[in-house]
Amino acid sequence: MQKITVAIDGFSSTGKSTIAKQLAKALGYIYVDTGAMYRAVTLFAMRNNLMGAGVNNQSTLIKLLPKINLKFVYNDELGFAEMYLNNENVEKQIRTLEVSKNVSPVAAIEEVRFKLVEMQKKMGKEKGIVMDGRDIGTVVFPDAELKLFMTASAEKRASRRYKELLDRGDDVSYEEVLKNVQDRDYLDSHREFSPLKLAPDAIEFDNSDMGLKEQFERIFNYAERVINKKDAQ
Ligand code: DC
Repeated sequence: MQKITVAIDGFSSTGKSTIAKQLAKALGYIYVDTGAMYRAVTLFAMRNNLMGAGVNNQSTLIKLLPKINLKFVYNDELGFAEMYLNNENVEKQIRTLEVSKNVSPVAAIEEVRFKLVEMQKKMGKEKGIVMDGRDIGTVVFPDAELKLFMTASAEKRASRRYKELLDRGDDVSYEEVLKNVQDRDYLDSHREFSPLKLAPDAIEFDNSDMGLKEQFERIFNYAERVINKKDAQ
């Protein structure tokens, strides 16, 4: 069976990573959460006092980029790879609302994107990968055999994210989470470099009113069809 590349893009909190993880597991592929990489760079910037209302010291962050070492380490118990920043497991720290509030301006910096996109391209060289993010089908893997673009209403997405944060024990309000989702939608789609946009050959997938099981079945079906077609060629 030939291996393909699956690119999953879309708005924040559309459940991209949940579906990407399930699909990768079912196909026996690698899963890469590129949002975790942008979040880790943001955590680094916050820890080094480079953030204010946006990135207040962009040139320092750019200068420090070679000192930011990112890697994914597979956790057998959890069944997915966790993000390490300079050899520290930061999987929990990168998922806070504070990091979500700071990540869009960091992800808009051309040099940051250049570094992370290079790493992502290397990870997908051998195919057999499911990668999720904002520019995977447009910039990282424009030749991906299967591209999905996930959407859902901002309110639905904010409710899902709010529940996740409450389950973690974070002290947040629904309104704050909704505002963050809306702000990130705007910033991620309007930035100059690699904005979030629908690739012409991507399948638009609105999961506002769809359970996980149905989503997985449909998406697995798309993948099977693409793989079978490739095998038959
Ligand atoms: O997928 P996520 O919500 O964890 O991503 C966090 C932020 O990182 C998101 O607001 C935009 C940015 N991002 C990006 O610009 N490009 C990617 N490929 C992945 C994420």
